[in-house]
Amino acid sequence: MATTPTSAASSRSDTDSARSTTTRAESTTTSAEPTFTSAEPNSGPATIGLGVDVGGTGIKVGRVDLVTGEMLGERTYTPTPQPSTPDAVAGVLRDQVEAFGWDGPVGVALPSVIHQGVARIAPNIDDAWIGCDVVDLFARHLPGRDVVVLNDADAAGLTEVHYGAAEGVEGLVILLTLGTGIGSALIMDGRLIPNTEFGHVLVRDISGSVVDEAERLASASVRARDGLSFAEWTPHVSNVLRTIEDLLWPRVFVLGGGVSEAADEWFPLLDNRTPVRAAVRLNDAGIIGAALYAAAHAGLLDLGDVLPSSTN
Ligand code: BGC
Repeated sequence: MATTPTSAASSRSDTDSARSTTTRAESTTTSAEPTFTSAEPNSGPATIGLGVDVGGTGIKVGRVDLVTGEMLGERTYTPTPQPSTPDAVAGVLRDQVEAFGWDGPVGVALPSVIHQGVARIAPNIDDAWIGCDVVDLFARHLPGRDVVVLNDADAAGLTEVHYGAAEGVEGLVILLTLGTGIGSALIMDGRLIPNTEFGHVLVRDISGSVVDEAERLASASVRARDGLSFAEWTPHVSNVLRTIEDLLWPRVFVLGGGVSEAADEWFPLLDNRTPVRAAVRLNDAGIIGAALYAAAHAGLLDLGDVLPSSTN
């Protein structure tokens, strides 16, 4: 198992972190800021969460400071087993969660629509996920634990709303994660509307002669596969953004995925209408949002009215 270090634990004192949460809540325009229900806001278990991000190539697990939205210590990275069947993935996930010695709620971000506890699609993982009851799956592999599951881009959206590029933004925000596929999160006044799948919207490509799914034209994996420079790839991203903005007229796009680390190199080349921001948490956004969702779902923190009551 390879282990990838991430940002160090927050060096702020408990009191400082709690105070800063209050201050930020006062200065924002939506109610997206988490409120901790524990009597001592930053001293109980409610301020730390555990999140898992399952991708087509790797499974990442890490502890999260739910006050700051930062990773606490190292996260683990394990290559996704091939074939990436539900039982194989859940087995890796169980071993990783146990390695953390964690017995609190676990949030799992999956690259699938999660509709009433059932995974519905599997563009980048094994087809056996389609129709898989994920509640039952994780209850079998992690018995007695509180496990909640949501779409990976929705998890990233929650992260950016609470701790990142979309914090405090009023109106409609659309987050797109550019990775193996294109994931999406739709956020209205800080409230997530789960299970949008804009990566599968049909788009006429820049040549005008081909119509294909957005993620097959403009994901980061297309750029890698075809060896495209940023100058060659960015017009495809602009084209997807224009298609989405013509339909939904968002106030802001947030673009995530590892490729946004190089935002300085290619954001200036975008020529769509809507302002575009780089996601702040990039590769950790799925873990952080999953941990946040799990803690809120377990009643350990109160996100106000911005959490979806269920994932549809
Ligand atoms: C899937 C989405 C997922 C995205 C990123 C897409 O292919 O349909 O559900 O969020 O990839 O992993």
